[in-house]
Amino acid sequence: MCGIVAYVGPKEAYPVILKGLKRLEYRGYDSSGVALLNSGLKVFKKKGKVAELEDSLVGKDVHAHIGIGHTRWATHGEPSDRNAHPHQSENGKLAMIHNGIIENYSQLKNELIKKGYHFISDTDTEVLLKFIEDIQQNNNCTLEEAVRIALKRVVGAYVIVLIDQDNPDTLIAARKGSPLVIGIGKGEHFLASDASPIIEYTKEVVYVNDYELAIIRPDELILKNLGNEKITPYVTKLDMELAAIEKGGYDHFMLKEIFEQPDTIFDCLRGRLDAANASITMAGVQNNIDQIKNASRIIIIACGTSWHAGLLAEYIFEELCRIPVEVEYASEFRYRNPVVRPGDVIIAVSQSGETADTLVAIEKAKEQGALIFGVVNVVGSSIARISNAGAYTHAGPEIGVASTKAFTAQLVVLTLIALKVAHAKGSIDTQRFVHLLNELHDIPEKVKATLQTADAVKKLAEKNKDAKDFLYLGRGYNFPIALEGALKLKEISYIHAEGYPAAEMKHGPIALVDETLPVVFVATKDSYHEKIVSNIQEIKARKGKVIAIVTEGDDTITAMADDVIAVPEADEIMAPILSVIPLQLLAYYIGIAKDLDVDKPRNLAKSVTVE
Ligand code: M6R
Repeated sequence: MCGIVAYVGPKEAYPVILKGLKRLEYRGYDSSGVALLNSGLKVFKKKGKVAELEDSLVGKDVHAHIGIGHTRWATHGEPSDRNAHPHQSENGKLAMIHNGIIENYSQLKNELIKKGYHFISDTDTEVLLKFIEDIQQNNNCTLEEAVRIALKRVVGAYVIVLIDQDNPDTLIAARKGSPLVIGIGKGEHFLASDASPIIEYTKEVVYVNDYELAIIRPDELILKNLGNEKITPYVTKLDMELAAIEKGGYDHFMLKEIFEQPDTIFDCLRGRLDAANASITMAGVQNNIDQIKNASRIIIIACGTSWHAGLLAEYIFEELCRIPVEVEYASEFRYRNPVVRPGDVIIAVSQSGETADTLVAIEKAKEQGALIFGVVNVVGSSIARISNAGAYTHAGPEIGVASTKAFTAQLVVLTLIALKVAHAKGSIDTQRFVHLLNELHDIPEKVKATLQTADAVKKLAEKNKDAKDFLYLGRGYNFPIALEGALKLKEISYIHAEGYPAAEMKHGPIALVDETLPVVFVATKDSYHEKIVSNIQEIKARKGKVIAIVTEGDDTITAMADDVIAVPEADEIMAPILSVIPLQLLAYYIGIAKDLDVDKPRNLAKSVTVE
């Protein structure tokens, strides 16, 4: 949800910022802009993707050693040049970029209008900047002081970065609720929403915390709290390589990330699963094992694809651990005055670790005394840091806006946790425990085999790309996969798709079925197989077009369905890790067949840092 980049140091700032914006474009891509300081402040902004900004600046004087840049996902005001960031102060001396939402902006705006301020954009950002400017002028104070005073009155979430024509070697930044990383180079500093714009220059970074303010010069980084007390910056080393954030020969990040899954799952299991010795090593679980295994209830909080992983985890935890589980949309949980008891364990699932609704839901549960266990992909992210314990998914940077490899890594980590807890609790017998560990061990190879269905899925995509709607059906462990398949298709192809429990279909959605509606059954071999065969018959009886994801060798469904994609045999608990892969590929290839931007689907953003 908006990407920010800034630079101060001896390098040319514009190329550093531009490259950074391209890396952060997954966060928002409806408009972008840069502000550069070089004998005066120059601001350039453009509606559309970063490439359009770049084209518009060819031949312009962009020479500077300090600058800020922004790629936007609109909240206040339509995507346009006017609403793009950076915004400028009334006197034209300050420029600011912002990621987040200022909730009390209209009240502040009214106050400023009464004082004679004018507003060029519809954004909350311009209001905050002019509020800061007003404070600076009235109090005759430094910009740093004015920012501090302003932020005490601001309600909402933000990362802001300012440059000031009168202090041409200084960036001022502050954070609450949105991410900010500072890269420390030799006589230079880099600021960004995540580490991807920084990684090729330095591996030394500081993650700025909420309510912290940074004053950054080429040779100096001062961190303070809003009470003006200095804080020692905690420098960490990035554990990430540049190759991980590049396309590596693939046409799109989404395809690369789908094909990376054998490796990401292997990485996720590495050092944790020891099938030969029937053991699982997970320090975050082990250190809290009594609390987790004796939990009166597990509440899983997440959004979007991560919520689907949570839903599947509900089935697995209840089956293996015999602990009641509830799966909550973070956005609903945070507002509905939920009952959380000290014996409850909250599992928060998030790829980015920055999702605003999930963050606030966690805070709410934490206040009520629950243990918070984070299952997060991005190392050092906000959710990782506010959780009491956790396990990283180790899927590596996921750049495609649609979550793919992060989802399967979430499934693997959640399964490992459930198995470890069940083993400690004694709710699983040794034979089944050992069997499931061996099954997990084999999953990376089976994922590799599943990816060989890509050509067949591509043909299926060509055949169905003009459908207006899709229905995805599954039962048991495959029901969350039906939901995930439908979400992927909506995001990437803009085709309306609904996921439903296969048996529930006859209570309503069956009315949609005719010869034009592709119905995707996620029907790998499991305890419900005969039941789903009946559901397929119900659809065929109404002339529906059936596409089935089945286990290799399933002649029954193969004989009934119009099209079949077969995945290797696996225990029903692990089968979803395989059955989701053809659905990811189907969404990808339909998006490609429709000539859409699969890595940056319209209206979406990778990291939803607004509620
Ligand atoms: O970063 P998170 O996992 O917390 O994000 C949650 C959702 O915003 C995310 O899964 C979203 O639904 C993706 N676009 C799905 O592909």
